[in-house]
Amino acid sequence: MMPMRSLQCATVVLVLLWPWEPAPALAASSSAPGARRRYDSIFSLGDSFTDTGNNPAVFAWYSIPDPVTRPPYGTTFFGRPTGRNCDGRLIIDFIAEALGLPYVPPYLGPPFGSPPPPPASSFRRGASLAVGGATALDAGFFRSRGLLPAPSKFPLNASLSVQLEWFESRLKPSLCRTTQECEELFGRSLFFVGEFGVNDYLFSFGKMSLQDIRSVVVPSIVETIRQAIERLIKHGAKALVVPGVIPLGCSPPVLFLFPEADPAGYDARTGCMLKHNEVGRHHNAALQESLKDLRAKHPGVSIIYADFFGPVMDMVQSPRKLGFREDVLSVCCGGHGRYNYNVSVPCGDANATTCSRPSASIYWDGVHFTEAANRHISSTWLSSIS
Ligand SMILES: *[C@@H]1O[C@H](CO)[C@@H](O)[C@H](O)[C@H]1NC(C)=O
Ligand SMILES: *[C@@H]1O[C@H](CO)[C@@H](O)[C@H](O)[C@H]1NC(C)=O
Ligand SMILES: *[C@@H]1O[C@H](CO)[C@@H](O)[C@H](O)[C@H]1NC(C)=O
Repeated sequence: MMPMRSLQCATVVLVLLWPWEPAPALAASSSAPGARRRYDSIFSLGDSFTDTGNNPAVFAWYSIPDPVTRPPYGTTFFGRPTGRNCDGRLIIDFIAEALGLPYVPPYLGPPFGSPPPPPASSFRRGASLAVGGATALDAGFFRSRGLLPAPSKFPLNASLSVQLEWFESRLKPSLCRTTQECEELFGRSLFFVGEFGVNDYLFSFGKMSLQDIRSVVVPSIVETIRQAIERLIKHGAKALVVPGVIPLGCSPPVLFLFPEADPAGYDARTGCMLKHNEVGRHHNAALQESLKDLRAKHPGVSIIYADFFGPVMDMVQSPRKLGFREDVLSVCCGGHGRYNYNVSVPCGDANATTCSRPSASIYWDGVHFTEAANRHISSTWLSSIS
């Protein structure tokens, strides 16, 4: 059954943006003009785009093989697989570096391949609760609609609300005791809420109509993210980064798994699929509307929209200008096939091949980006964060 295996491979990541207006979206979100914020820690929720090493632990709970535990993951930076879905650093790693903070440790560690779990106190400078394959919506949403019938083990029980539950019932009590102590700690922290949505869409494509995805899935995800932000603000969060989704219509697994029969469905210039990108734009517009309302309601809180769509479209549209090779829609690491992507031969498999210069590729193993692409994206986010 194609979906089972393909989803396992395709699932590991997700993101998006507003191509025509990246910087203003970010600038508009800073509530204190001229004020430069400093943070003592980073706490993050999300999926593989933000997961610094939780997925090997979670996949093990389900006995799902996890290709990211093998080389060539981590070869460009770190020098070994760390559980990141990348050849090196993620966007959040570049942001931690720029803010002078340690790399955000995976809460469900131990960091893959490392010895003993860190004591709880080591999470005072931050922790990632993000899990590769995580959805914004609870698993029941997909189960009740029959979107991922058995034997699929997806979606994992690691949705946004489950990650919040881990934060509230386990992480927070290990870090602070009184309300004041917690508010002080979290008030000096930077929270990443996402990206969320990419896996929800990957699980829905081909099973629900794009019209139903727009009218049912998009609003449900945006509302779930809104509620999560409200909950974090109650705990004392004063600065939150909320990324949009990527242009899914450009993602090699989406191009491979859900091809359009009609050539008119593709952007002639980029080769991306128009309708799938349109879902992403719609998601991002709805998310930004929701963030606008939240900013009005919480004037003392900095709610930063991070455009994931725009910088990826920039790389896909002008690869040479940004230092990437022309053949942008192929993955660096994978099996043979169109887009160098083959569901049966994921990156990390003995028969997969890796390109000679990962830094010239945008896509690493599927939906996930190379470290070079992550560096570019992080540079566009940083001005609004630091
Ligand atoms: C999912 O995880 C949450 C939080 O850890 C737990 O309360 C819940 O029982 C789990 N649900 C399932 C179906 O395993
Ligand atoms: C994908 O890999 C499998 C296993 O090696 C192979 O049989 C198949 O032909 C490949 N598909 C394409 C499109 O190359
Ligand atoms: C790699 O490909 C060879 C030749 O097609 C095959 O015999 C072998 O089983 C494959 N290895 C894996 C790990 O799939």
